[in-house]
Amino acid sequence: MKINTLLVGLLTSVTLVMGSAQAAELSIVSGDTGNGLAFLRSQLDKFEAETGNTVTVVPMPSSTSDQFGQYRLWLAAGNADIDVYQTDVIWAPQLADQFLDLTEAAKDVVDQHFPSIIESQTVDGKLVALPAFTDAPALFYRTDLLEKYSKPVPTTWDEMAATAQEIMDAERAAGNADMYGFVFQGNAYEGLTCDALEWVKSNGGGQIVEADGTISINNPQAAAAIDRAASWIGTISPEGNLAYQEEESRGVWQLGNSVFMRNWPYAYALGNGDDSAVKGKFDVAPLPAGDGEGAGSAATLGGWNVAVSKYSPDPEEAIKLALFLSSAEVQKERAINQSNLPTIEALYDDADVLAASPFMANWKEIFQNAVPRPSAPTKVKYNEVSSLFWSAVHNTLSGNGTAAENLEVLEADLSDLKGDAW
Ligand code: GLC
Repeated sequence: MKINTLLVGLLTSVTLVMGSAQAAELSIVSGDTGNGLAFLRSQLDKFEAETGNTVTVVPMPSSTSDQFGQYRLWLAAGNADIDVYQTDVIWAPQLADQFLDLTEAAKDVVDQHFPSIIESQTVDGKLVALPAFTDAPALFYRTDLLEKYSKPVPTTWDEMAATAQEIMDAERAAGNADMYGFVFQGNAYEGLTCDALEWVKSNGGGQIVEADGTISINNPQAAAAIDRAASWIGTISPEGNLAYQEEESRGVWQLGNSVFMRNWPYAYALGNGDDSAVKGKFDVAPLPAGDGEGAGSAATLGGWNVAVSKYSPDPEEAIKLALFLSSAEVQKERAINQSNLPTIEALYDDADVLAASPFMANWKEIFQNAVPRPSAPTKVKYNEVSSLFWSAVHNTLSGNGTAAENLEVLEADLSDLKGDAW
């Protein structure tokens, strides 16, 4: 009897300790690029050691569009198996109802982050996700090849294409049959929306749907920008580029087979890895500008955040995990190992960060001036807006109609989708 009482007492206290959030079994979904999942695991190991919780990673495809489709279904079904989601910057307005409000939990740390990023994750006063890193793309260029052919870093798309063609032709003539001039994200998915928004905006063609909700995409400068990109396919860019996402472009680039690449900063650390053919042979610059009125370099704003599902059975521990993954400690590791841009301003002055990723000194300004995709004005319809846009662009790149024809249809489809208001 005595022993039994003791045992019951012991068991109760063990359960209490576990129940009081000492040893939750959490799961996080993450799609990622490069060695991002391995990096996440290394950080989760620290979190486990610090908290006694265990965290399982549910790996997802790297395409943000594929992730979004799956998460939307899971969340609509009230899935309680996933506690924490890694979320794209554009998703906040669409998934806001399904995530917990982190305002209270983050009140002591929120001021460390750039206010614009916190704002992008705030929907009707609810902080739906905490920033893990921000993103703004670069023109990656081969320093060795530009030097060999005495070419400056291009500042316009036409200059980029001319340099790409010249170096590609010369390198091929010298025996490198696999050489290309430029690789980018041409697959029909969210990544193409990012690339094409840059072509359009940098050519003075607007932002697809403006901040006030106006549909602006059907204009001659936008059409000229997309037609220009179509002329790259099969000349400076491989036909296969029509199917490339970030990782396929990086694959060609990192084998040493392209003069230029448009990609996000994550490709910087990987390109300088020991297994990279371009290690020490490249640098990054702002993306080129178009021409015409209002033209100038434009970078699409990207970035990833951490959100807690409102269906999580362990919300308190899940929130701790979100706080941990957005913390200065993890962001610093990210900036050094993954060359992901921090959302914490102080890290842009951190000597270790700048030693590992010197380009970040210039990228603080670039991301602060980056162009947002129209996810705020189009709210829950953003995914459809983006999908109509990338389809119109992909058709044009594939030779299926001119940009002017495809943008006219796009404008009509967007107007139908909008109805009286977004
Ligand atoms: C990057 C960006 C993200 C964007 C995606 C498109 O991951 O951070 O915001 O949606 O690329 O492929």
